[in-house]
Amino acid sequence: MRLHGRFALVTGSSGGLGAEIARALADHGVRVVVHGRDRERTRAVADELGAAPVVADLADPEQLVRLAEEATAAYGRLDLVVHNAGIGWQGGFDRMPPDRIPDLVTTNLVAPMTLSRAVLPAMVERGRGHLCFVTSIAGRTGVAGEAVYAATKAGLDTFAESLRLEAAGTGVEVSTFVPGVVDTDFFTHRGTPYARSRPRPKSVETVARQVVSLIASGRPERYADQALRVAPVMRSAWPAAYTRLAERWGEQTRWGGDR
Ligand SMILES: NC(=O)c1ccc[n+]([C@@H]2O[C@H](COP(=O)([O-])OP(=O)(O)OC[C@H]3O[C@@H](n4cnc5c(N)ncnc54)[C@H](OP(=O)(O)O)[C@@H]3O)[C@@H](O)[C@H]2O)c1
Repeated sequence: MRLHGRFALVTGSSGGLGAEIARALADHGVRVVVHGRDRERTRAVADELGAAPVVADLADPEQLVRLAEEATAAYGRLDLVVHNAGIGWQGGFDRMPPDRIPDLVTTNLVAPMTLSRAVLPAMVERGRGHLCFVTSIAGRTGVAGEAVYAATKAGLDTFAESLRLEAAGTGVEVSTFVPGVVDTDFFTHRGTPYARSRPRPKSVETVARQVVSLIASGRPERYADQALRVAPVMRSAWPAAYTRLAERWGEQTRWGGDR
């Protein structure tokens, strides 16, 4: 997709990776709608970019409808939606507060589906548009301690792939960006800081540039690092060996433990 002069909504662009994607898009001449839940943070990023702010909680169906309407009305149309907003929770599933399950599923999966459904018909009618989904390596393999988060990202991944197949020949593109670990406050927001020494978090500026280059390229997907491909390929080719390695070297969260 040629970026200059396009109109884009970046969900969750009041901070973290989304704010940096909004900045990178603006550098390419895209007029961005900055979205977040926190009014002050959303407005601060929008003011910095001379962009339109929309404050809406993705977990609230009525606010989601308003987000689609206001983001479209901001510049008259949307050419691009980057589905970036997401939340996590870390710990053994046997200790996960039950009310966090719908929080994660709604924000990470139902909201991007509903928002896509709202904006897609206009894109199909114009014969042009792009939906970009920020998933996670945690959706390409299971992850101990992130069962629900990984399931939402796997669902988003398959949703995006299905849309890509449906989009063939319509002029609408669908892309998937698969991050590993990114240096944002995501881990603090989920309630448990990132404590592993490897993989080292990637800079948010680098990852945002990768997202924008994926959108411009017309390619269907991109991993933040080539090395991230190894685990999904192993899991698919040698599932028993992969499980043994993941139990040994992966996240060590176990049921009934302290974490
Ligand atoms: N950081 C990583 O290592 C990593 C790794 C893999 C994938 N990812 C994915 O990358 C994406 C961006 O994450 P990040 O690292 O930038 O996280 P972050 O720093 O925690 O930022 C999350 C953004 O999403 C918004 N958001 C969260 N819940 C929302 C809701 N209910 N309604 C509206 N906005 C909401 C936040 O808005 P407010 O602050 O205004 O509430 C914020 O702008 C997520 O989808 C995440 O799953 C991140």
